[in-house]
Amino acid sequence: MNDAAKPIILAITGASGAPYAQRLLQVLTQIDREVHVILSDSGAAVIQQELGIRIDPRQLTADNLQALDVPTAGRIVFHRNDNFMAPIASGSFLAGAMVICPCSGSTLSAIAVGASNNLIQRAADVQLKEGRKLILVPRETPLSLIHLDNMRTAAAAGATILPAMPGWYHGVQSLDDIIDFIVARILDQAGIEADLIPRWGEAHARDSE
Ligand SMILES: Cc1cc2nc3c(=O)[nH]c(=O)nc-3n(C[C@H](O)[C@H](O)[C@H](O)COP(=O)(O)O)c2cc1C
Repeated sequence: MNDAAKPIILAITGASGAPYAQRLLQVLTQIDREVHVILSDSGAAVIQQELGIRIDPRQLTADNLQALDVPTAGRIVFHRNDNFMAPIASGSFLAGAMVICPCSGSTLSAIAVGASNNLIQRAADVQLKEGRKLILVPRETPLSLIHLDNMRTAAAAGATILPAMPGWYHGVQSLDDIIDFIVARILDQAGIEADLIPRWGEAHARDSE
């Protein structure tokens, strides 16, 4: 299977930034890829706090996604975070990339020590041991030395650390532009083509037209 056809794993954990996860889901359901989705309990709590939508992470369905304004046309597979029998728990599952967005400091620390205490942590551990793409989107500020050390450890093991730190240079008009900045960078790292925001040279070219 070539990389462009391989499934994508999206894990949503309990850091602030639920709108990034919502937008990622909206984009990933529009591409012709199998997308495996896992939501932690704290991820669901943050979605309720930030988007006002209650989702039971043990009963993830396409209906839940509609509540998040996510079209259900895509090839989505849902997993409970306690299900180690899921295919993504094994290195024999050929995931193209795994994205954890947002990534809590708790999940980051578990990845850094290889804890594999739930399916999200296990699937991330598998991506690293198999030398496959793992993109972590932490959101915390300020960062303690513990956070920084955990990021360094994860990066040294092969993870891409992509903090939810939006740039402001792409002609920001709305919150959606800020969200799309981060989502576009994640998609770039995952090797998924999507034309969400103008790239640096393009923004300049459009301004000077
Ligand atoms: C509303 C809310 C916001 C939170 N925001 C953050 C955050 O921005 N960054 C973070 O690392 N943890 C944050 N937390 C704490 C994590 O959710 C908590 O550490 C949890 O154990 C993470 O579990 P998980 O990684 O399995 O999702 C937040 C929790 C709640 C309820």
